[in-house]
Amino acid sequence: MYLYIAGLVVLFYVYRWFRELGRVSNKSEKFVYITGCDTGFGNLLARHLDTKGFRVIAGCYSEKGEDELKKICSDRLITLHLDVTDNENVKKAAETIKSLVGQKGLWAVVNNAGIAFPTAPNDWLEIEDFTPMINVNLIGVIAVTLSVLPLIKKAKGRVVNVASVFGRISTLGGAYCITKYGVEAFNDALRRQMAPFGVKVLCIEPGFFKTIVTDFNIVESTLHRLWNKLPQEVKDEYGSDYVDKTKLTAKELLEKLADGDLMKVVSCMEHAVAAVHPRTRYSPGWDAKFFWLPLSYMPTFISDALLLKKAVQPKASIL
Ligand SMILES: NC(=O)c1ccc[n+]([C@@H]2O[C@H](COP(=O)([O-])OP(=O)(O)OC[C@H]3O[C@@H](n4cnc5c(N)ncnc54)[C@H](OP(=O)(O)O)[C@@H]3O)[C@@H](O)[C@H]2O)c1
Repeated sequence: MYLYIAGLVVLFYVYRWFRELGRVSNKSEKFVYITGCDTGFGNLLARHLDTKGFRVIAGCYSEKGEDELKKICSDRLITLHLDVTDNENVKKAAETIKSLVGQKGLWAVVNNAGIAFPTAPNDWLEIEDFTPMINVNLIGVIAVTLSVLPLIKKAKGRVVNVASVFGRISTLGGAYCITKYGVEAFNDALRRQMAPFGVKVLCIEPGFFKTIVTDFNIVESTLHRLWNKLPQEVKDEYGSDYVDKTKLTAKELLEKLADGDLMKVVSCMEHAVAAVHPRTRYSPGWDAKFFWLPLSYMPTFISDALLLKKAVQPKASIL
């Protein structure tokens, strides 16, 4: 009986592996618009899809990002200045894309641009610490998607949203998890609403990878900057060694979990863009697959107990 079940499981994985091998044809006629191509996953994806033969439209936040990409990529790749929080800029970019893609429409948009700081206990923050990140990570994703959705419907193409494991479990203070939960919600409704039009909506939920988003030096400087602004009453509640202990925990966590192989994420993005049968969700990274996602499915009392056990406690803690 067990052997029979194991056989069925193996058969299922072999079938899925085989089904997922196929890639779409006519890549040189397919335009892919990617946001946040200056660094990290977006930069690597732009270069990767360019070598695969796609017509990449790389949205870059900085002039330097545009120049560097142009230097190393083929003539097919086009760069655009893109600040996803500037609605005029987003609309102007969509107009440019419309004139580039013509009647064929846009094959895919990859909503990759994102920021992750400030991240700190919520009672250290002010509302002004939340809004910029919400504007980039969530409003930016929605604005860019809506700006090109008619072109994607025309191509029966794809929307690829980069969320995070922190769109499945919320452990961080600040806007990061809030925005990624929002991206998941937008993604799921859009996937069902676009299915009748032949548009596929896919979500990437990476674990920890070594990019600016997980840079320990920024974690450290953000913690110090916010701590220095706190009222004495809050500092007393947390205790003078709280920042040092938190830094140590963050450093250990990042050293243990942050994966240097960004291609694990980029391969999932490429699959979402180029596979004939893409997956609805991708969870690149061992920590995503074997820690964060299983944790997200656990009953709340278990996930709370595990996370609280690992977290640095404030001096005034009653736990
Ligand atoms: N690294 C991880 O562990 C991890 C895990 C899960 C999810 N993610 C997600 O993956 C995505 C890519 O992040 P990454 O890790 O590759 O980090 P990254 O290297 O910092 O890439 C983010 C990109 O977004 C750009 N950007 C920032 N603000 C922007 C704005 N207002 N408009 C347009 N572009 C803007 C940045 O440009 P500048 O460099 O010029 O500022 C940068 O090129 C993000 O959505 C992030 O949340 C990352």
